[in-house]
Amino acid sequence: MSQKRETWSTKVGLILAAAGNAVGLGNLLRFPSKAALYGGGAFMVPYFISLFLLGIPVMILEWVIGRYAGKRGHGSMTGIIGLFFNQASWARALGSLGVAIPVLIVMYYLWIESWTLGFSILSLLGKMPEPVKTPDLKTAMEPYLEFFRNYTAPSLMAVLFLWITLIVNWIILQKGVSKGIEITAKIGMPSLILMGLFLGIMSLSYNNWAGLQGLKFIYSLNFSRIKDPMVWVEAAGQIFFTLSLGMGAIATYASYVRPKEDVVKAGLWTAGINEFVEVVIGASIAIPAAFAMFGASAIPELAKEGTFRIGFMTMPAILLSLPLGEILSFIWFLLLFIAALTSSVALIQPLIAFFEDEMRWSHTKSVTVSMMIVLFGSHLCVFVPNFLDELDFWVGAVFLIFFALVEIFVFIWVFGINNFYRELTLDTTIKLPKIFVYVTGIISPLFIFLIGYFWFKYKLVEVLGETDPYKWLARIFILFFVFLLGVLAVISKKRVLEGPRI
Ligand code: PHE
Repeated sequence: MSQKRETWSTKVGLILAAAGNAVGLGNLLRFPSKAALYGGGAFMVPYFISLFLLGIPVMILEWVIGRYAGKRGHGSMTGIIGLFFNQASWARALGSLGVAIPVLIVMYYLWIESWTLGFSILSLLGKMPEPVKTPDLKTAMEPYLEFFRNYTAPSLMAVLFLWITLIVNWIILQKGVSKGIEITAKIGMPSLILMGLFLGIMSLSYNNWAGLQGLKFIYSLNFSRIKDPMVWVEAAGQIFFTLSLGMGAIATYASYVRPKEDVVKAGLWTAGINEFVEVVIGASIAIPAAFAMFGASAIPELAKEGTFRIGFMTMPAILLSLPLGEILSFIWFLLLFIAALTSSVALIQPLIAFFEDEMRWSHTKSVTVSMMIVLFGSHLCVFVPNFLDELDFWVGAVFLIFFALVEIFVFIWVFGINNFYRELTLDTTIKLPKIFVYVTGIISPLFIFLIGYFWFKYKLVEVLGETDPYKWLARIFILFFVFLLGVLAVISKKRVLEGPRI
């Protein structure tokens, strides 16, 4: 109880940490894959609409509520949702879903993060497969496809890199919010942007600016698929994922601001930097590079489903065939690693905040127990078939959408339009008009409802018909974990009612 809650130590550090939270594999891998899969410009129309109707409002909502809750000693969704219902057991249990989501995501996120670290070191050591000279992307990718399969089978080396990745995350989190996460972001984010700009300019300018073709493919807006619900579902899902919304990860970071911090500004900065790294840098690397090397004939190969193809097969096939290819490939994977690292710590911090603020555990105990849980879960993703995909599907798509609705309902409607508006306009130089609250409270949830409806209609039937036992194992694990956190939320209630930890 004597422990004080930490705060970010500088304004720049706070913004960079939040940007590091949002900028991740979503920007550099997931975004180009989805854009290619859904036809470039046809994807970007629903994407930008979702950004403005969903992304920015929910981003600001989470920042405002995070500051509000932090002042009252709560940084995890368990305590935050609880705040609005006198810490009633059911509300705390419901809020705990917002702690379970990021933890379940990080279990597979870390595994992918460790590939990026492994591939960067292997590139540097010259241990990646030799490139083949061919005008055809499919053939060029073959050696890398096989290499990737063997590596993630898993190989011993892959497991070793997973452990290194876990240790790096552990050390940063043990050092805490300002000395660990903030410092990592202060070094990581500027380097990330520099490396990203470098690779982007290189991909665009290669072969007499042939890469511009790729950028044109992404940005020739077209409305041909505007009526296809799947494109909407995917575009809105991408906005949630890339901005780290709908799971409390942003609110947790916001709970560590100083009491008078301008959170509206911070929210706009976070969204702004994230979008810059996504639609400018993310759009300028992989797809333009493939166009520059293989021309428009690369599209069908790029457009194949699978988030990992572009990053782990197409990119090394291209980069390694260039002069100084090993260094370029090293930079690419290092860029991915830094992006992933500043996101994975953000995915674990809500659980640490839960243990500290709600269970009243010491920092070291909270970090140690959190990392044990994450370590266990990430090994399940390594060794149990289909685990990664199941987690990504249920948690990274379904739960997110549901929990975003809970957030909007509680923070705007239960808290009250006027109360929320007062918090929104407190200590900020950007006085948003009240209509903003109505958009967030009415339009955003309607939009989510529609998306949820189509999602259920198209996907759920297909998914529930599965008979693969491993998939069901993953589903049972998810339910068990959500239940466990719910129980802890109820048990810890007594401690919280004794008084705030601020
Ligand atoms: N936004 C991150 C990305 O783009 C993923 C993430 C989600 C990170 C939620 C933290 C919380 O990769």
